[in-house]
Amino acid sequence: MKSAEKLIIIVCFLFQGVLCREFSISLPESVEALRGLCVLIPCSFEIKEEYDADLQTDLTGIWNKDDAYNNKVFNSKETTENKIEGEIIGDLHMKNCTTIFYNISERDSGEYYFRVETSGKLKHTYSSSSVDIRVQDSPISPSITLYKEDQGKVEDQNEVVEGTSVSLICSAPAPCPSNLPTFTWNFLPEERRQEQNHNTSFSSSQLNFSATHLHHGVDFTCTATYQLQNKTKSEQSSFRLHVLCKC
Ligand SMILES: *[C@@H]1O[C@H](CO)[C@@H](O)[C@H](O)[C@H]1NC(C)=O
Ligand SMILES: *[C@@H]1O[C@H](CO)[C@@H](O)[C@H](O)[C@H]1NC(C)=O
Ligand SMILES: *[C@@H]1O[C@H](CO)[C@@H](O)[C@H](O)[C@H]1NC(C)=O
Ligand SMILES: *[C@@H]1O[C@H](CO)[C@@H](O)[C@H](O)[C@H]1NC(C)=O
Ligand SMILES: *[C@@H]1O[C@H](CO)[C@@H](O)[C@H](O)[C@H]1NC(C)=O
Repeated sequence: MKSAEKLIIIVCFLFQGVLCREFSISLPESVEALRGLCVLIPCSFEIKEEYDADLQTDLTGIWNKDDAYNNKVFNSKETTENKIEGEIIGDLHMKNCTTIFYNISERDSGEYYFRVETSGKLKHTYSSSSVDIRVQDSPISPSITLYKEDQGKVEDQNEVVEGTSVSLICSAPAPCPSNLPTFTWNFLPEERRQEQNHNTSFSSSQLNFSATHLHHGVDFTCTATYQLQNKTKSEQSSFRLHVLCKC
């Protein structure tokens, strides 16, 4: 290698992000989605510096499905004609193409390729990387787990002795941070403490109370409600508690 070439490579390396920028995109390899819910695709892209000024123009984000160039399913300028409903929540001017697709169905499974268009010269399809949206058919129903004081999680069991401190935790998938489910219980013990939590993929509602005979045979039903675009989707599950007499 000639020393001049070497120098250019070193300079490029030192000033990466300033000089010698290439088109590139950062996408997860795959994202899991549940039918009927939305899915969030974290996305950011890079462009050659010669196009920087175009970032200040009018920008459009486009997603092509399964074919990098020929199957447009989403265009951020379209409001009604898109094959898949969605929204680019990232700021394209900041090279952030983070996208939410709503109301995912099985036929939306596939590889998605991003394209950016400006009203300037910059028009580029990122064909080298795609995100695989995997739509799960599994129901989004919540699950209820019983925890007993000092015993932790108790599997396949619904009996507690009167006076025991118990927690009922209802948890439901929350694949999309902008659409976290809200929980309601059909029955709330009088003396209780309640809290709602979420981690990266689940939300939960926890009821803490001391079991009394009043809770014997009660069906605790938890309803998880998702706010989808213009409608809500609710799923529920039940848990019957058996309270044993402390006598
Ligand atoms: C892109 O935008 C999303 C949504 O506003 C935000 O949560 C995320 O942090 C942004 N990513 C970067 C790299 O700035
Ligand atoms: C969600 O998608 C299904 C199937 O594609 C469609 O029948 C339904 O109308 C859509 N719902 C909304 C709110 O767009
Ligand atoms: C409920 O109980 C659990 C464990 O016993 C505890 O970690 C949690 O903080 C309690 N929550 C509330 C709201 O009291
Ligand atoms: C999130 O919470 C769910 C249920 O509460 C649990 O099964 C899962 O392991 C948790 N995930 C992370 C990343 O903590
Ligand atoms: C959702 O609501 C907006 C405004 O309220 C309306 O313009 C749009 O047509 C609705 N979309 C669907 C799919 O019902």
